[in-house]
Amino acid sequence: MSELCRERLATQLAESVAEALRQDLSRQERALLVVSGGSTPVPFFRALVACELPWSRVEVTLADERWVPEEHADSNARLVREHLLQGGAAEATFVALTTGAATPEQGVDEVAERLAPLAWPASAVVLGMGNDGHTASLFPDSQELSLALSTAEPAVAVRAPSQPQPRITLSADRLHRARRHFLHITGGDKRDVLARALAGDDLRELPIRAFLSCPLATYWAP
Ligand code: 6PG
Repeated sequence: MSELCRERLATQLAESVAEALRQDLSRQERALLVVSGGSTPVPFFRALVACELPWSRVEVTLADERWVPEEHADSNARLVREHLLQGGAAEATFVALTTGAATPEQGVDEVAERLAPLAWPASAVVLGMGNDGHTASLFPDSQELSLALSTAEPAVAVRAPSQPQPRITLSADRLHRARRHFLHITGGDKRDVLARALAGDDLRELPIRAFLSCPLATYWAP
């Protein structure tokens, strides 16, 4: 049952995101979509591929990335290329968040330069959430969390004991530069984490809280 619910959820989210892009593309030349990685987005990506859009005018980037080569199994760029940049959506412009630098600290300035010319504010930012309340790579156990929550820089290099690889993340400020925000989560555990997040206000405890004060369309299925 939950598989069917999750597929239907993914389709509904894809239709909402596609409509957001169409609205913005009716008044501007290009539109930007910011997506998250992990496992939850895959059915959403596949449903979005099936949506009719002028994909050559759509820009796609990531909310965050693991600092691994794009061919690595954990790469979010690989996930996007395999599941979203397919069919008509292959015509979209994808901006990855990794460079040839050995570390995200060495590559973050180049990534910031890549992000600058995109069609900000994004038409949509689609966030995921971990069971620790992280979103993008804003992790409660990261020493860079305070910086990522407060800086005006577009991207931050992040390390967290809970994560096997160094990461790069869009800052909270940059993730807020969007006309619409969506949260895509599934399962009872994440529902309970979201309920806890809504009941408190300490961003460092549950960083998803940084996005609960702006309008956030929550797409949740069992
Ligand atoms: C990442 C994501 C991250 C993700 C959550 C949920 O790079 O992992 O951007 O923020 O949204 O970790 O991941 P799942 O969908 O796999 O539960």
